Amino acid sequence: MSNASDTINNKTNNFRPNVGIILGSGLGGFADQVEDAQVISYEKLEGFPEVGVAGHNGQLVLGTVGKQRVAVCQGRAHYYEHGDATAMKPLVRTLKEIGCEILIITNAAGSLLEEAPAGSAMLITDHINFTGVSPLFNESGNDRFVDLSEAYDAKLLSQLRNIANDKGLKLHEGTYIWFSGPHFETPAEINMAKVMGADAVGMSTVPEVILARQAKMRVAVLSNITNLAAGLNATPLSHEQTMANAEQGAATIQVLITELLENNQL
Ligand code: HPA
Repeated sequence: MSNASDTINNKTNNFRPNVGIILGSGLGGFADQVEDAQVISYEKLEGFPEVGVAGHNGQLVLGTVGKQRVAVCQGRAHYYEHGDATAMKPLVRTLKEIGCEILIITNAAGSLLEEAPAGSAMLITDHINFTGVSPLFNESGNDRFVDLSEAYDAKLLSQLRNIANDKGLKLHEGTYIWFSGPHFETPAEINMAKVMGADAVGMSTVPEVILARQAKMRVAVLSNITNLAAGLNATPLSHEQTMANAEQGAATIQVLITELLENNQL
């Protein structure tokens, strides 16, 4: 048990969540619907990332949504902050240690699909690690050789598709390509990514997926599409624009996750 797991167990009287949720940009509001919430600041959890002070960033919210016991992470670390792909290792491993068998990850992403513009939601079915780095560099032991052939859990994917269908919500699907950032991509890079088979582009998530699969957690990822990728749109890319467009996709994703937790056998 890590120190962070011990701290959580002590502070919550051994509350055992079964679903971990990592909230990306614009999705922090999801944590408001957690019932009987117990909140722990990342500062109290050894190894958890230091994240910006804006809003409720940098805290773990434990409680229930429907029948599910959840551990909601508001705020994540990115590879581009320190050039360190292991930044999310303690957080993901702690989620597993305290009981999570499922990890739901959300992020903000650019879209390579004209039919999925800003405001869309995309279900991620596979990824391309274009950074070439791994959160498992420097590890020893055979469990570093993680099988990623079915990284995105078929059952969770199918449940999320069904929910979107039932609710009349448009849910795009595709492959996420991880670029290091923090700069945005060039149009030439996006053309290349398109040829490679990418549908969404972002600067996070892939390290978390690799760590979660090593820990044998079942994974689902939903991307909040905040812009068309470089070269596909006349508007220049900026973080401000990304944030300004985060609301609509976030609302869709929030409904999907809530419904998944409240009305499905996971
Ligand atoms: N590229 C990379 N990351 C992103 C983008 C993008 O266009 N939009 C939101 N996150």
